[in-house]
Amino acid sequence: MQSIGVGLIGTGYMGKCHALAWNGVKPVFGEGPKPRLVHLAEVSAGLAARRAEEFGFERSTGDWRALVADPEVEVVSITTPNAFHAEMAIAALEAGKHVWCEKPMAVTLTDAERMAAAARNSGRITALGYNYIQNPVIRHIGKLLEEGAIGEVNHVRFEMDEDFMADPEALFYWKSEASSGYGALDDFGVHPLSLVLVLFGGVARVMARLAKPYAERPMRDGGRRAVETWDIASVLFELRSGVSGVMALNRSAWGRKGRIALQIFGSKGTISYDQERMNEFQLYASGDRATEQGFRTVLAAPAHPPYDRFIPAPGHGLGFNELKIIECHEFCNAIAGRPARIIGFAEGLEIERSVHAMAQSHREDQWISV
Ligand SMILES: NC(=O)c1ccc[n+]([C@@H]2O[C@H](COP(=O)([O-])OP(=O)(O)OC[C@H]3O[C@@H](n4cnc5c(N)ncnc54)[C@H](O)[C@@H]3O)[C@@H](O)[C@H]2O)c1
Repeated sequence: MQSIGVGLIGTGYMGKCHALAWNGVKPVFGEGPKPRLVHLAEVSAGLAARRAEEFGFERSTGDWRALVADPEVEVVSITTPNAFHAEMAIAALEAGKHVWCEKPMAVTLTDAERMAAAARNSGRITALGYNYIQNPVIRHIGKLLEEGAIGEVNHVRFEMDEDFMADPEALFYWKSEASSGYGALDDFGVHPLSLVLVLFGGVARVMARLAKPYAERPMRDGGRRAVETWDIASVLFELRSGVSGVMALNRSAWGRKGRIALQIFGSKGTISYDQERMNEFQLYASGDRATEQGFRTVLAAPAHPPYDRFIPAPGHGLGFNELKIIECHEFCNAIAGRPARIIGFAEGLEIERSVHAMAQSHREDQWISV
């Protein structure tokens, strides 16, 4: 395959990120097909035309169905709000396209199941936007766990916090609507759950409590509207291996900008990581001499692939958008039939089941098996 025809739906925060990834994947990785940016869709023809010119797409449309029907589009990037994912992904798969869809997979479990079935029936490749699993540092932490660097894992603890909803007067928008899902659980919780999936193999049982710090928010055009989602979630869980875990999520956490903090405690040491400092991790090894025991900080380096594909020097640092370039490369690997580190719709359904089990646990005030 010399080139691959790309369609992009949505051009907000994630749309630009996907466009950067499609533009960057070939220069960074060299191998694989050259992406041809064929068709871009937005809510209006005018906005689509502007973005197509900026992002380098050949044509544009105000009707995403025209993009899905375009025979020159072979893969579709879906970066629209959550409520659109199921309809767009299923239409694209039925039209024979590979699909790279942003997280969360869908708002309802039924829709996520329909997406997984459509992927299975189409035989096409799917990938979800779980970019944090692509961090070379996270990959290396996985390798350390496999090698037994901290012995037998006995407890894991995740926190994900940001402050974009911390201001009580922050505007009501699509993430405040029930049509986007539960709130912190599917907006944030799915990211730690993607790490749980690749590092530990999934969740068995959950006990969760959701909270809504502000009952209503101002509307852009005046007036106020009742908030329909929960910005905070506290979760106890058990991994399939029986190991216990804790997950704390908060979209209204002043001062936290992109925290995904992970602590993994084992019989011989501890690993600690925070996405706000995504180019480093801490390792404590109980085997170190007592006189020097303590956490050592390890900086990301070419020794942690695929960091080396971006920068030949250690400690210079990758960024969020580069995780998306790696994700894009893995998606292309899967399309080419090569081994790939992606969470497709089948595996993504596992994450969705965990999220909906957490919401059920909140409603029923009891532990729920996933
Ligand atoms: N992977 C991550 O780390 C990450 C980070 C942020 C957001 N997201 C996910 O990405 C998705 C989009 O979030 P965002 O922050 O980019 O939102 P956004 O509001 O910035 O962008 C959404 C874009 O979709 C467009 N759009 C809406 N309806 C459309 C339609 N019918 N046809 C074509 N375009 C349409 C909007 O005009 C807008 O440009 C969400 O599902 C969100 O959960 C993922």
